[in-house]
Amino acid sequence: MKVGIMGCGSIANTLVKFKLEEKLNVNLAYFYDLNYDNASKLAQQVNAKAYKTLDELIENSDLILESASQAAVHNSVPQILESGTDVIIMSVGALLDNDFRESLESTAKENGAKIYLPTGAISGIDTVKAARLGEIESVSLVTRKPPLSLGQDMDGDEEQIIFEGKASDAVKEFPKNINVSSTLSLASGIDADVKIIADPKVTRNTHEIYLKGTFGELITKTSNVSSPDNPKTSLLAAYSAASLLNKLSDTIQIGS
Ligand SMILES: NC(=O)c1ccc[n+]([C@@H]2O[C@H](COP(=O)([O-])OP(=O)(O)OC[C@H]3O[C@@H](n4cnc5c(N)ncnc54)[C@H](O)[C@@H]3O)[C@@H](O)[C@H]2O)c1
Repeated sequence: MKVGIMGCGSIANTLVKFKLEEKLNVNLAYFYDLNYDNASKLAQQVNAKAYKTLDELIENSDLILESASQAAVHNSVPQILESGTDVIIMSVGALLDNDFRESLESTAKENGAKIYLPTGAISGIDTVKAARLGEIESVSLVTRKPPLSLGQDMDGDEEQIIFEGKASDAVKEFPKNINVSSTLSLASGIDADVKIIADPKVTRNTHEIYLKGTFGELITKTSNVSSPDNPKTSLLAAYSAASLLNKLSDTIQIGS
């Protein structure tokens, strides 16, 4: 399978590193970025090709992994799906716009393409998906990050709640930070309750999930190391993308 990468920043960097370490079973064949140099630098490392246009990326790839931005999902994913090419979306926040998600879904169906959403920087999504088959009573996410990774410049070491509300609003206010709330909402079928805390005392991005339903109760806590290239992005997000790419070709499939 020839994989094309759209958006050659921190997530794409980690994927290239995994490829060089022979941990990735797919062919990272094509790279595209609004900044051609970013694409070219990564392509060189794995003897791949860098493209200057999205059209070339689409024409040649069997599957495209979006690791760019919510705007890129809005502007480019419809065209990718129209061509019948499968897509993995990292900027999942874009999909909490219900009209947009439904239009992507119908475009994908009409053209025989699939849309994959990796677990990202949280844990427990398998359980959330299974729990949904019963009744879900409540679902919430508490995210705690160092202020700088939330774009906050704070004095002192007092933590501050900078957002409390629904995931669909959180992804609009913090488009680069809270994709996990979208994944949680889409997996549960409920617009999750979200609290974002800027905490000067922490160095890691921490996500806690609280889920109650007829199945019982789930509590998970993921304490993430940031990507060296982008403090807003947790390393686990790229790991989960790599794991999903491998799963697509695995003979034994683990997890739902
Ligand atoms: N699902 C999750 O759990 C999760 C976790 C972390 C990050 N993310 C999201 O994944 C995306 C990528 O994260 P990152 O840390 O690699 O970002 P990054 O900022 O390090 O890199 C993004 C790259 O995409 C390029 N780009 C931007 N818009 C583009 C477009 N329209 N077409 C092509 N290239 C474009 C930029 O030039 C840059 O090189 C972000 O939207 C981020 O919010 C998701």
